[in-house]
Amino acid sequence: MDTGEAAATPAAEWSDLSAEQKLRFYPDAVRSGFGMGYAPNAIVNEQLMPPMLSLQAMQLEITTWCNFACRECQRTKLIEVGQWKNIHMPLDRYQRIVAKLPPTERIFLQGVGEPSMHPNFVELVRSAVESGKFKSIHFNTNGHTHDDAWWTALGQYAQLVVALSVDSLDPVIAERCRSGTKADVLWSRLQLFRTVFPRFNVALVVSRLNLNDLEQTLRKIGGLNVPVSITKIISDDPDVVLQPDDEAWVMEIVDVVRRDLPKFAVYFNRHFITSGAKRCVSPFLSPFVTVDGYLTPCCAMVEPNAYDFVRVDDERTWDEIRTDPRVLDWVTSFIDADPIPCQGCSLNPNQITATKADPPAEDRFRGAAASP
Ligand SMILES: C[S@@+](CC[C@H](N)C(=O)[O-])C[C@H]1O[C@@H](n2cnc3c(N)ncnc32)[C@H](O)[C@@H]1O
Ligand code: SF4
Ligand code: SF4
Repeated sequence: MDTGEAAATPAAEWSDLSAEQKLRFYPDAVRSGFGMGYAPNAIVNEQLMPPMLSLQAMQLEITTWCNFACRECQRTKLIEVGQWKNIHMPLDRYQRIVAKLPPTERIFLQGVGEPSMHPNFVELVRSAVESGKFKSIHFNTNGHTHDDAWWTALGQYAQLVVALSVDSLDPVIAERCRSGTKADVLWSRLQLFRTVFPRFNVALVVSRLNLNDLEQTLRKIGGLNVPVSITKIISDDPDVVLQPDDEAWVMEIVDVVRRDLPKFAVYFNRHFITSGAKRCVSPFLSPFVTVDGYLTPCCAMVEPNAYDFVRVDDERTWDEIRTDPRVLDWVTSFIDADPIPCQGCSLNPNQITATKADPPAEDRFRGAAASP
């Protein structure tokens, strides 16, 4: 159990807790060896050291190219300061990494970039399927690449779970949030994808830029009965980021839409959900591999210096990589306290105020239409 006494302790008192108390914040899945959390601390070792036979999730950044320039995307911001490189992950690097991963529940073929722009995208999907290691293969897309036939052919891979990113269906608001959006293309792909991909949902990022339009967007998508996953924007711009009152309003809008469309599956991503003083588990459950083949703790820390440039595509086994001293050092200090990037991260459960239960994963595709 990771709840109880320790979970009720305010986050501010984290530094006062003992190592045993700190470990109580981690879910059983992490403590029982799903995670990659190895640390030299004896208590941490005892709790987190069992051999890792499987991984819950892994995210591979297959490309950093994109055909959009979304205002709050890390790529857009880094391009503005001249710190972005457009690269496709070479096929051989991808295959070396896939070959060494343990069986993994979910693989996300995406980082910051448009995955469908990878010139070998279909081959990457096929390799992942043929490896037999992944229960499901996920990616988000802006849906503005290729022709309908290309997307339709992709539908043959039953393991695919596809999310179309839609912040608004109104042309002006969509352009404000996701620059490059053609509202007619987006709407047409939304309708195509719901027929092509049995496991399809919409990924909607809510911010002050699209808050006024949220209800209308949800009603339109709800009319197609495509499930929607709502995520809160990560931004340091006060004109963009949601304030507590805005979050409460999002909840109200969703409640109203759910009442009117009871079959419509709309759910919040985990960082919308309060979890008291629990710690983020992304470094254990969802590590990230950059397009250059470096391991990082999570999709919000995509700079290779997080783990001091630990490579994933070298000759070492997965267990050797995750027990690299540079990873151990970082994990040990992470368990002790949130590092600086976590302090402003909206995925950090310690910084969450909203409350809403997330439905079980199996409900999330409830209502996903395989036919028009
Ligand atoms: C980085 S994109 C990569 C995949 C693809 N290019 C797309 O946009 O769907 C993955 C997801 O992150 C979301 N996203 C982008 N910037 C974000 C931000 N600042 N905060 C939260 N989500 C963001 C996008 O809307 C998208 O659903
Ligand atoms: S489409 Fe995706 S990767 Fe491209 S700029 Fe927008 S959020 Fe970033
Ligand atoms: S809080 Fe954010 S930055 Fe920190 S580990 Fe979790 S996802 Fe990464």
